[in-house]
Amino acid sequence: MSLTPEIRLGINIDHIATIRNARGGVHPDPVDGARLAIKSGADGITAHLREDRRHIRDADIERLEMLCQETDVPLNFEMAATDEMRDIALRLKPHAVCIVPERREERTTEGGLNVAGGHNHIAPIVRDLTDAGCRVSLFIEAVEAQIRASADIGAAVVELHTGAYAHAIDNGDVQLADEIVDAMIKGAALAATLGLEVHAGHGLTYSNVGRIAAIPQIVELNIGHFLIGEAVFVGLPKAMAQMRAAIEAARP
Ligand code: PXP
Repeated sequence: MSLTPEIRLGINIDHIATIRNARGGVHPDPVDGARLAIKSGADGITAHLREDRRHIRDADIERLEMLCQETDVPLNFEMAATDEMRDIALRLKPHAVCIVPERREERTTEGGLNVAGGHNHIAPIVRDLTDAGCRVSLFIEAVEAQIRASADIGAAVVELHTGAYAHAIDNGDVQLADEIVDAMIKGAALAATLGLEVHAGHGLTYSNVGRIAAIPQIVELNIGHFLIGEAVFVGLPKAMAQMRAAIEAARP
């Protein structure tokens, strides 16, 4: 049996909305996806309302918050550090808010927040959301300055960005993947010492999740694109079960 805390699995349902939006209309409904994920044992639902609304829309996030309240499953609302998003979060008051960097031209969230260099901008949003009762998380790279700055401005959680690790593996760059995992091991330990809860996510798959799940301070993984892609072939419950098995097999 594992001696470290179990890892919570948050399911990011954004890309159900991507498929819906490819045709307009209402199908497939990301809220139905969230309901199925919850029925299949998701520990949380994650959704990113991007400024350009390319996948999740305002009405989706309202309905997701209602579903999560009804089922008592935490909603992790991902958002850019803008006044518009802060006001939406303050109105919805989701269980958790994860602040992410956002650039319109990017395909997905590339790289972590610059908390160390963006103090003045991010700190008041963290404070407003924390005061409203949300658990605030900052999506950062496992870099000491970013971790320390996150603790300094009062975030409860850091989510370590695993995108560069996933890319390194895809590119066959074993040395870079090793270096990033090493930085994540050190970063997770430092974050925990500073009193931060540690999450991780981005680009995780059945085959690359193990080395991240093996880091004992990480207590939550947020996974979307790969699982929704796999769900096309085997269904979401089976894809989630296989991911859960890969995570548990790696837990120390
Ligand atoms: N965590 C955060 C903060 C994210 O922004 C995303 C999606 O971009 C994920 C986790 C999930 O990443 P993926 O869809 O690649 O699994």
